[in-house]
Amino acid sequence: MDHRQAAARVRELTTQLEHHNYLYYVLARPEISDLHFDQLMKELEDLENRYPDLADPNSPTQRVGGDITKEFPEVRHRFPMLSLSNSYSREDVVEFVERIEKAIGQVTFVMELKYDGVAISLSYRDGRFERAVTRGDGEKGEEITANVRTVRAIPLHLHGNDHPAELEVRGEIIYTRAQFERLNAARVEAGEEPYANPRNTAAGTLKLQDPKEVARRKLDNFIYGVQSDELDIRSHFELIHKAHIWGFHTPEPSRRFIERTDNVDGIMAFIDHWDKHRHSLEMDIDGIVIKVDDLDIQDELGMTAKSPRWAIAYKFQAEQALTRLERVTFQVGRTGAITPVAELDPVQLSGTTVKRASLFNADQLVRLDLHVGDLVRVEKAGEIIPQVVGVEKDERPRGAQRVHFPETCPECDTPLVRIEGEAQHYCPNEHGCPPQITRRIEHFISRRAMDIEGLGGETVGVLWEAGLLRNVADLYDLRKEQLLALGKGWGEKKSQAIIDGLEKSKAIPFEQVLFALGIRHVGETVAKKIARAVGSLDHLMHMTKEELTAVDEVGEVIAESIIDFFAAEGNRATIGRLRDAGLRFEVDRTEQQVQGDQLKGLTFVVSGVFENFSRDGIKQTIEAHGGKVSGSISSRTNYVLAGTDMGPAKRAKAEQLGVPVIDEKEFMRMIG
Ligand code: IVH
Repeated sequence: MDHRQAAARVRELTTQLEHHNYLYYVLARPEISDLHFDQLMKELEDLENRYPDLADPNSPTQRVGGDITKEFPEVRHRFPMLSLSNSYSREDVVEFVERIEKAIGQVTFVMELKYDGVAISLSYRDGRFERAVTRGDGEKGEEITANVRTVRAIPLHLHGNDHPAELEVRGEIIYTRAQFERLNAARVEAGEEPYANPRNTAAGTLKLQDPKEVARRKLDNFIYGVQSDELDIRSHFELIHKAHIWGFHTPEPSRRFIERTDNVDGIMAFIDHWDKHRHSLEMDIDGIVIKVDDLDIQDELGMTAKSPRWAIAYKFQAEQALTRLERVTFQVGRTGAITPVAELDPVQLSGTTVKRASLFNADQLVRLDLHVGDLVRVEKAGEIIPQVVGVEKDERPRGAQRVHFPETCPECDTPLVRIEGEAQHYCPNEHGCPPQITRRIEHFISRRAMDIEGLGGETVGVLWEAGLLRNVADLYDLRKEQLLALGKGWGEKKSQAIIDGLEKSKAIPFEQVLFALGIRHVGETVAKKIARAVGSLDHLMHMTKEELTAVDEVGEVIAESIIDFFAAEGNRATIGRLRDAGLRFEVDRTEQQVQGDQLKGLTFVVSGVFENFSRDGIKQTIEAHGGKVSGSISSRTNYVLAGTDMGPAKRAKAEQLGVPVIDEKEFMRMIG
């Protein structure tokens, strides 16, 4: 393939990938498989590597390619980003309509959902995505382009050719509820505190320094405004439709996400509908926005000091309840994280009884200035975890005691520590703090980890009390006589079941063993990726931070956590005992046979020395993913996989035949 052909193919692939991206993320109607999509992406990546001058910052490959951003520059908005005046009553809405009808006469209104996320302004020049800026103070915001580029619902090139040369599109960056729940499930699994609500989490995600991490978090976007000096469409509703045609994720009229009316009854019907149905939406909304449709009338109505006269937000009442705080307890998690929990006088809140609510961390206690016996306001944050949002200070009982965050662990009395930059306090007594140990053991035996039949939270408690269990490795030293000796309830059958369950767990695959170890930040998915990429625990224990971060899904935080884990003497001792017990510390060859088909139809020539694989290991890995290994480079070779010390003759041959040469890192990416 010469340069001209490559350029044509790059254009073709870009168009195809953008089209399929749009079908998937905007229309939710994919037409090709993920595998096929990844193959097209891989082909484009390869071409861009081979012809670096064809790489474009707006290429589909660059969604996730951004470098670490140290700071976000301040940028002035070309059109200020206004905010809306809020109302909480329908009377306010009626007044808003009357005011406009008095000034103008009858007009058409557009009703939209008020997405509860983070406002963003997206600039396009000649149809190309140029930059993304936060709202900031409305005049100036922060540029977060690299992070926003990862949001698949945002087009990097506009579709069609009827867009203005300079265009600004406004919308809201959000988490869908499903994605937010996935994110939290992964956090809980990795021993971290779940995030409180989708909006704050979206705001936090957009300010992360690593765009790759932002990409993994899978944010979404809805558009609610289009701005340009060159618009001939003068209806807001039609402009939103136009934005849809240009490739944006916009509200669908067919789902009543956006509607037009010329009277107040139409507005109220829309409000009623969404007040009733908002909980079934895939994302959080906190109200309805009502806008005058005609842009010329909008101009005529103009602005007050900070918000337009042509729009108003009707906000839904957040579902809240008032109740008494009985006391605050401090829970110790498996990683030692201390979470304050409000124990409440039970109260009904959106259909469920709430008895406890999260107080998250020490800062939150200070912010609320919480006292025992306070009348507190609880709210379902993003309709997920109940949370204490406020205190009725006037109702405070006399002599009420302020709630203090403890300085020592409520369970083992060890002084707590707070890691710089983190909001959470930890009990550092990993190997001596009872709830940390028992929760780690519970995690170890759980179904997705070592899956030990016959054991559960309660039995762990009994074994702990009896002094038989101080560490996960003690499990494998348990003898049937010891269990039988525990007395009532510990018969032959139950004791034998536990011993059998332990024996059976020795066949659990390495990836589950790795997850079972309970390394902070290493959840199920990450454990799987690491196990497959690294192959054995021995290898993992000796990897450097650089090597670890080369593994898919592993960032700095995870890498550091892994290194710290293996550096701890106690953990090494436990691992030694688990090894002696016969647990699987490496990936099984027979497992490798069925690892995937990412490399199906591809032939590799392997050359040089690799960091994470032996020469045989890398060949097996290729075959385990459906690829073939050949001894010499020919025109039928798809890739040369080069380690260090690859011979110059081979390199020259590859170049001559136009066979792409990839390194180990690239290879790991291919196999995911
Ligand atoms: S219109 C001048 N429409 O609410 C009008 N805003 O206080 C500018 N928002 O910062 C905004 N959904 O982040 C508009 N359908 C919608 C919206 C919406 C959510 C947010 C937006 C803005 C805030 C307004």
